[in-house]
Amino acid sequence: MAKDGTPLPPYFNIDPDAALSDLDLPTGSEGFAAIAQACGQGRSDLASRGMDEQGRKSLRLFSTWEITRYLIPVAQAHFRRVLKQNPDLPQGQSESEGGAKWFTLDEVLRLRAFFGAQGSKAKNYLPYRPAGLPAKIVAVANFKGGVGKTSTAAHLAMSAALDGYKVLVIDLDSQGSMTSIFGGQIEDEWQTAFPLLARHYAEYLRLENQRRLDRGDPPQPLDEALSTALDMTVGDVIQKTHWPNIDLIGAQLNLYWAEFQIPVWRMQARGWKLWDALTDRLEMDGVLDDYDLVFIDTPPALGYLTINGLAAADILLVPMGASFLEFDSTGRFFDMLHSTFVSIEEGENVAARALGRPEMAFEWDAVRAVITRYDGAQQGELAALMQAYLGETLSPHRQDFTALIGQAGEQVNGIYEADYRDFNRETYARGREAFDATYAAFKRLLLGVWRRAELAEQQAAE
Ligand SMILES: Nc1ncnc2c1ncn2[C@@H]1O[C@H](COP(=O)(O)OP(=O)(O)OP(=O)(O)O)[C@@H](O)[C@H]1O
Ligand SMILES: [Mg+2]
Repeated sequence: MAKDGTPLPPYFNIDPDAALSDLDLPTGSEGFAAIAQACGQGRSDLASRGMDEQGRKSLRLFSTWEITRYLIPVAQAHFRRVLKQNPDLPQGQSESEGGAKWFTLDEVLRLRAFFGAQGSKAKNYLPYRPAGLPAKIVAVANFKGGVGKTSTAAHLAMSAALDGYKVLVIDLDSQGSMTSIFGGQIEDEWQTAFPLLARHYAEYLRLENQRRLDRGDPPQPLDEALSTALDMTVGDVIQKTHWPNIDLIGAQLNLYWAEFQIPVWRMQARGWKLWDALTDRLEMDGVLDDYDLVFIDTPPALGYLTINGLAAADILLVPMGASFLEFDSTGRFFDMLHSTFVSIEEGENVAARALGRPEMAFEWDAVRAVITRYDGAQQGELAALMQAYLGETLSPHRQDFTALIGQAGEQVNGIYEADYRDFNRETYARGREAFDATYAAFKRLLLGVWRRAELAEQQAAE
């Protein structure tokens, strides 16, 4: 107590002997192993909750109310009528006699296809994707940590899937958060994007070796890892998830190895276009025909994996909070993007000019900063300032802070996996609105980008 009776701040009058008696022994390197083990055990415990017998995640069911409200734009009565008239369609299951009918997402997708084929053409039963054009690749990136990259990417992937798109999610972050969200089980780097990058390099090396042999130089050996990678395709690293129309290329700690390996490969083969590795593999293995959308989650760093993800992207989303520090750091992120990609272009174009070949330049269909975890009561002014400076680059949609995120455990990630009956309706509705609006802003961007490509295609054909 101070003389006037107010309590002292808690950091005054700490007795050193009392502090000592609280203290445990110093930690050695082995101490980290023990801590990691404890985390691992806790994680498995959490992860196992709500899993099915095979230890895999399962997705909740969707009610008639939710389907007709959020997923398939028909009136409930009409929906019920159509089901009754078509006994072959999924009829749903109810928890009690005459209770509400619930459907798996697989069933919802079948119903959507049915309405799409039979229903009114004026309605958006099936989401727009121009025929014959490739999937769009969306990267979510910012070298600042904790800005909402993974949450944004995961929610967009889920909303797009609920909207009827077929989605591939690629986790390039060795922290593997996205992989956990989608219940991915990854043993080592061979089940991640790593072998795709390795294959790209190995193919380059093989070509290069042919040139060497032609010149009479000795070839560079392909080690065992590279030879293995040569036989691998995207199909080998894609996993199914508990979402019927979301597949995953997962990540785990070993993927970080790529950050050391890629520069070594590049040193050995200066001509290898490392930034094209992911793009080329996705194109060659048919991914862009098999899926509608590819979402790439990146680590909070501008390393080689992120560069690969960014170079592959058609649409780049950069989440950031409406705070001074995040705005500041995002500005520097764009600065780094500029110098990184310009230096790649310059490196390539010196040679291109010398050989009289066309110059290369990176291009993105759209680049948008997105305000995440927005608190209108506190951050309105800062957000308006950011909007004034960034103009069109800042998405006009601000993703509200919602207590619904991060609150649930391992089994349920975010709004779309949560059963609305577990929440206060009001909280649920607000949380859902935040991410539905994030998706709406994204979808508008996507449709614009696809439409532009479609018109360009038509014009080229004329
Ligand atoms: N709209 C939101 N409302 C409330 N909390 C949110 C929102 N978006 C994200 N969060 C929370 O913010 C934290 C960071 O989010 P997230 O993991 O998505 O960021 P990140 O940029 O992927 O982080 P990292 O850089 O570590 O990969 C998480 O605890 C997440 O639950
Ligand atoms: Mg993340």
